[in-house]
Amino acid sequence: MRVARGIAVESQESTENQGGSVAIRGALLDCVGDPFYQPAAQAVRYVADGLLLVRDGQIEARGAYADLATRVGDRPLVDHSGQLIVPGFIDTHIHYPQTGMMAAYGEQLLEWLDRYTFPTERKFADPAYARSVAELFLDELLKNGTTTALVFAAVFPASVDAFFEAAEARHLRMISGKVMMDCNAPDYLSDTAQASYDDSKALIEKWHGRGRLLYAVTPRFAGTSTETQLKLAAKLLDEFPDVYLHTHLSENVNEVAWIKSLFPQYDGYLDVYDQTGLVRERSLFAHGVQLTDAEFQRLSEAKAAISFCPTSNLFLGSGLFRLEQAKHPDHPVKLGLGTDVGAGTSFSILQTTNEAYKVAQLRGQKLSAFKALFLATLGGARALCLEDQLGSFEPGKEADFVVLDPQATPLLALRNAGGIPETLEDLEDLLFSLVILGCDRAVVATYIMGEQLYSSNVERP
Ligand code: GUN
Ligand code: ZN
Repeated sequence: MRVARGIAVESQESTENQGGSVAIRGALLDCVGDPFYQPAAQAVRYVADGLLLVRDGQIEARGAYADLATRVGDRPLVDHSGQLIVPGFIDTHIHYPQTGMMAAYGEQLLEWLDRYTFPTERKFADPAYARSVAELFLDELLKNGTTTALVFAAVFPASVDAFFEAAEARHLRMISGKVMMDCNAPDYLSDTAQASYDDSKALIEKWHGRGRLLYAVTPRFAGTSTETQLKLAAKLLDEFPDVYLHTHLSENVNEVAWIKSLFPQYDGYLDVYDQTGLVRERSLFAHGVQLTDAEFQRLSEAKAAISFCPTSNLFLGSGLFRLEQAKHPDHPVKLGLGTDVGAGTSFSILQTTNEAYKVAQLRGQKLSAFKALFLATLGGARALCLEDQLGSFEPGKEADFVVLDPQATPLLALRNAGGIPETLEDLEDLLFSLVILGCDRAVVATYIMGEQLYSSNVERP
């Protein structure tokens, strides 16, 4: 491993996930249930002086330091006492080619796509440029404590190769796919239905299940795909039942009206995806701000997932997500958080929980710190059908986790002057301070498969 700019990168590419063996001491916090439906005492686990035992990249045990200290054995013991260790954050919707165009001024969705997004994504026809942005993007994710993401690449197959090569070198569990777009887009970004099917199929065969990498069939949205292309996307899902479907849905009022005009024969936006065979258990739809109650119910029935992207929804003026509809006990929808960079305004899932809290407030709802933690970790894992691998410290899961410093800045040190609390009740207040005030500066270290890939302590050039 070499460590550069605080990020450790494997110098030789490898498809093997060896993983590290390590013992980590610190305050351990994870979700084992859903605090939207269960009391916090049942859904959340906390041990103030804890020990996480990792063997070959997997969690072997978690518990009180006093109970597990004798099992450390030959592993290095890393002391993060005074810091909070949580499962790695999961970003369920983000675009790596849009990294360089964050903070594009003045437009809402459809105009923003034409004016800023399409010209930016054109640059990803160049594999060397794509690779350089993919490296920077993954470094940003790790710096922010995000260990897994569902990622839009660009329309060019080489942009997917560039992303997966960079993710593979870091042994990350990442999901991505080639954008499919055969209408209403500039020629320089358009494919055809058949070419998008052929290229996606070749990429699935090359990347899906290689190491920790997984593939998502990625039609951009109903506005830039013909019915033929959407049906061919569904054919890929039939042929490769464990790949994902990743797209946008019902983000903005004008977009919803436009989709209705493009597909008058269907009963609304979700129905376009449904009738073409795209609404399934491994389907993830970004946004859903404008969904009707009936559409939420249909997503629940299909076990499909939504990515709630509050910083993006506020930045583009798209609207306020109806969290209580998504989490309605009668028709729960799997839900994760998405930064949606570059419409999103931060790579930080903590900043995303901050904005999610405010969106809930504006709708008269409360997003507790534990609910926010759930969405950022186990909820995201469930949305991606990865709860057997990720999202908590259950033995056998992959050891991707984040170390947070509740006193990382002078402001946080003042706010959390009492340090790590003993009880779950007291912890809720400290966690809320990180949900609202936290950002990359609260992230002390990020571990991937038990190896420290990011440390805030490494000196920067
Ligand atoms: N809808 C279709 N494409 C996009 C995109 O790139 N970003 C967002 N936020 N919405 C979209
Ligand atoms: Zn998006």
